[in-house]
Amino acid sequence: LRTILIGPPGAGKGTQAPRIRDEFCVCHLATGDLLREQIAKNTALGQMAKKIIDAGELVKDEIMVDMIKDQLENNKACKNGFVLDGFPRTIGQAEKLEAMLEARGEKLNSAVELVIPDQLLIARITGRLIHPASGRTYHKEFQPPKKPMTDDVTGEPLIQRSDDNVETLTKRLTTYHKQTAPVVDYYKKKNLWAPIDAARSPNVVWENLCKIFREGP
Ligand code: AP5
Ligand code: ZN
Repeated sequence: LRTILIGPPGAGKGTQAPRIRDEFCVCHLATGDLLREQIAKNTALGQMAKKIIDAGELVKDEIMVDMIKDQLENNKACKNGFVLDGFPRTIGQAEKLEAMLEARGEKLNSAVELVIPDQLLIARITGRLIHPASGRTYHKEFQPPKKPMTDDVTGEPLIQRSDDNVETLTKRLTTYHKQTAPVVDYYKKKNLWAPIDAARSPNVVWENLCKIFREGP
């Protein structure tokens, strides 16, 4: 399985991707998580990325393409395929990904668009809680942890992302519609586009994903 999840902030990419990883034994590459790792380690890249993320803008294509290239080449878990979460986010990234895969003799099976109206995303983003070490995601209302603000698995505290406020979300949505929505058209032309109604419950979204992976876009 080689697939990508395209969708606005809060569409459910990070909720569904780990399930795809576990069910299909592929690697889950989330560029947002990779950048947040750099921020946590306080590297030069992390310091640069933090400003851009908190402004709701995009990190440069070259940096993101190198990041994915490095993972595809060196992450053993990717041998069996991958689900990309948050990449490609620009036409430039989509073109580079295609070239990168072609050089490996590989092709995408599908490009899934998680379709959801903007007004549903505010509640999803402002209520989100994450366990930073694992990337596990909860929601105060829609998917509450067993104990408030506590990770079910490790018992460690949950946090809110610094970009999960209404002001930054508004900028992230503008960036999405301007720079990432054209990526959907790119995959429509390649006959890889598979839309899913992402306003449904996580289990219904999951069933529809499985149908696409079984039957193709
Ligand atoms: P990134 O981390 O990718 O953020 P994003 O795209 O804004 O997406 P989110 O992680 O906010 O949403 P999600 O779709 O994963 O939602 P989730 O499943 O968690 O990127 C962050 C930043 O890094 C970018 O803004 C950019 O600056 C930079 N960056 C990253 N990649 C880049 C790239 N390729 N190029 C350049 N810059 C890049 O769900 C959200 C909440 O809703 C959760 O609480 C969840 O429990 C809940 N939920 C999920 N599904 C449902 C459902 N069906 N019903 C009810 N609630 C649900
Ligand atoms: Zn995410």
